[in-house]
Amino acid sequence: MLIAVDGPAASGKGTIAKRLAAHFGLAHLDTGLLYRAVGLATMGKEGQADFESVAIDAAINLDTLTLDEDILSTAEVGLAASKVAQIPEVRKALNRMQRTFMEQPQGAILDGRDIGTRICPQAEVKLFITANADTRARRRTEQLLTRGLDVTYNEILKQIEKRDKDDRENPAGAFFQAADAHLLDTSKLSIEAAFKAALDIVGRVTG
Ligand code: C5P
Repeated sequence: MLIAVDGPAASGKGTIAKRLAAHFGLAHLDTGLLYRAVGLATMGKEGQADFESVAIDAAINLDTLTLDEDILSTAEVGLAASKVAQIPEVRKALNRMQRTFMEQPQGAILDGRDIGTRICPQAEVKLFITANADTRARRRTEQLLTRGLDVTYNEILKQIEKRDKDDRENPAGAFFQAADAHLLDTSKLSIEAAFKAALDIVGRVTG
């Protein structure tokens, strides 16, 4: 079974994808981490002549086994990820990795921005997980504070809104909901309720 999970930052898509993967025994890839790792490799290079070539090299040579979620989860790395996500050659290299991952014999679940639209349009189930910007900013602020990072709600809200806009308008691969994706708004749902709702959708589609 192939499941595609897309949605904006802090919508709950990562948690839902992880839980679905555990439930169905599927391999899971958080594709945002790939873009974040490439973004991290370019930090400090913004505005320099070799910015794009550093990003492309990092994407081509990325080792998906060494991705460190703690290092990659900061808001600054998220913004850097959005920048490198606009470079067509970076997307091409990362798309190749995602498609290889998808070919596992037992099936897979991938979450990101373009899984249902471009990476895996043939997925049996497509979920589009969303939540309003206020809820997403509150969730992400709490997550980062729990990790000991010094952040405020206002700066996280601003960063989320900037990434939403950049991702929707990305000339190298705009972010949008696939026509055949099932919309799940998690704004008023607990993690448990959101997971149950996602599980219901998968059951309805595959049952
Ligand atoms: O999902 P996450 O917030 O970790 O993604 C970080 C950034 O990586 C996104 O804002 C987006 O710019 C980029 N991305 C993408 N395509 C994906 C996954 C992430 O362009 N499939």
